[in-house]
Amino acid sequence: MKEGITFSDVLLVPKRSTVSSRKNVDISGRFSRGINLKCPIVSANMDTVTEAEMAIAMAQAGGLGIIHRFLTIEEEAAQVAKVKRTENVIIEEPYTVSPRDTIASARDLMRRKEVGGLLVVAEGRKLVGVLSERDIQFHEDGSAQVKSVMSSKLVTARPGITLDQAQKVLAEHKIEKLPVVDANGILRGLITAKDIKKKKLHPDASQDAKGRLLVGAAVGVVGDFMDRCAALLSAGADVLVLDVAHGHTDHVIEAVEKIKKRWSSAELVAGNVATFEGGRDLIEAGADGVKVGVGPGSICSTRIVSGAGVPQLTAVMDCAKAAAKRGVPVIADGGVRDPGDITKAMAAGASSVMVGSLLAGTDESPGLMVVRGGMKYKLYRGMASLTATLSRRITETGVTRRIEDEEAAEVVAEGVESMVPFRGRASEVVHQLAGGLRSGMSYCGARTIAELWSKAEFIRITPAAWAESLPK
Ligand code: XMP
Repeated sequence: MKEGITFSDVLLVPKRSTVSSRKNVDISGRFSRGINLKCPIVSANMDTVTEAEMAIAMAQAGGLGIIHRFLTIEEEAAQVAKVKRTENVIIEEPYTVSPRDTIASARDLMRRKEVGGLLVVAEGRKLVGVLSERDIQFHEDGSAQVKSVMSSKLVTARPGITLDQAQKVLAEHKIEKLPVVDANGILRGLITAKDIKKKKLHPDASQDAKGRLLVGAAVGVVGDFMDRCAALLSAGADVLVLDVAHGHTDHVIEAVEKIKKRWSSAELVAGNVATFEGGRDLIEAGADGVKVGVGPGSICSTRIVSGAGVPQLTAVMDCAKAAAKRGVPVIADGGVRDPGDITKAMAAGASSVMVGSLLAGTDESPGLMVVRGGMKYKLYRGMASLTATLSRRITETGVTRRIEDEEAAEVVAEGVESMVPFRGRASEVVHQLAGGLRSGMSYCGARTIAELWSKAEFIRITPAAWAESLPK
């Protein structure tokens, strides 16, 4: 019988190292064939971990967030769109009003879209003015037209302007917004001082070719999942994550084939699997990344309830063998309890690591904050827990209703509800985790993840050795 091992069964043997500073260690990894990350940490697609706010923080830190799928199609697509609008080199479709619109409607649009200014365009998207909050702040009577208050003295740029050039123009004219117009005066985009500042603050941010933050979005394999894929892709999702507890099924393999047939250039990660065969079959079906982990998660009870699963380090090693031959990255999903587990997962062959509990306690997670005994916590629950399953049933029907005891008793939960300590900002947590990975790589004498794969040597340890490893 094969033996399976996990993170606390091993340590990495320190090696003679030529790495003089941890700053020289490059932790860049991959989430899928086409998605490279300067920091290979990904926030889990769970309803107490990743919505737009978390995805923004993760991408700004050089990682990635995967929006969970327990939302309506429109809601999930809106979360994706929110991330894509956050950091732009150039906003291609800035919010606009017509000169004949009322001040009240412009004010309403600014409030809804949370922006401090609008561009004013006439027929054919010809730019005729700029409207800022300042222009309308004392116009209590909102019935006047936008054209009566907008500023029509315009400073504009031509398409193709670089960020540095744009920054100079903004500084020279002491303005915050620089509309981009073509030779005919037609609006082609907008560059804002805010976006330039954000870009400089996050030099490692994960970005697409247009300078927008990267974001992934989860989908299932039943019902209207193809409609969901279409909506998420058109909202700008950079990668779809087909996420099912048991990913090595005909159902999932067929869904991968179907999605790749319809959108051959879309990045698609599929899972979860925990064996060589599982990884191989998903890749052969067309997956661009394989998510690995059956039951290691901190809120999982799959192994206890069903008796099935594979210890996570073995699962990652086996899937990585299947994936390496085909040039497809493996994502180690779940079971990361300590920063060192990330180094171990990467050393075992993963190209990135998905994290739930360690990020669930941050400001950016959508989980509820609770205070117990003077300490702050955030709620964190497995997606197959009783409460997550029941809330999903309510969301699916779209009608708020009472769940009777009998219905609750029918659910066979494979996850639990818990609370995790409040940990402050996600960027700080990611910084600590990335620091641990850098340090672990330097102990292994590895400057890159590829070097880590070839140089890392694991040593099996006893429970006493693990106890010795823990701070007392
Ligand atoms: P961590 O350990 O980072 O794990 O909290 C997060 C991962 O756990 C998986 N997950 C579940 N697994 N029952 C399970 O068996 C569940 O209810 C459940 N919810 C999430 C998922 O892979 C996640 O990324």
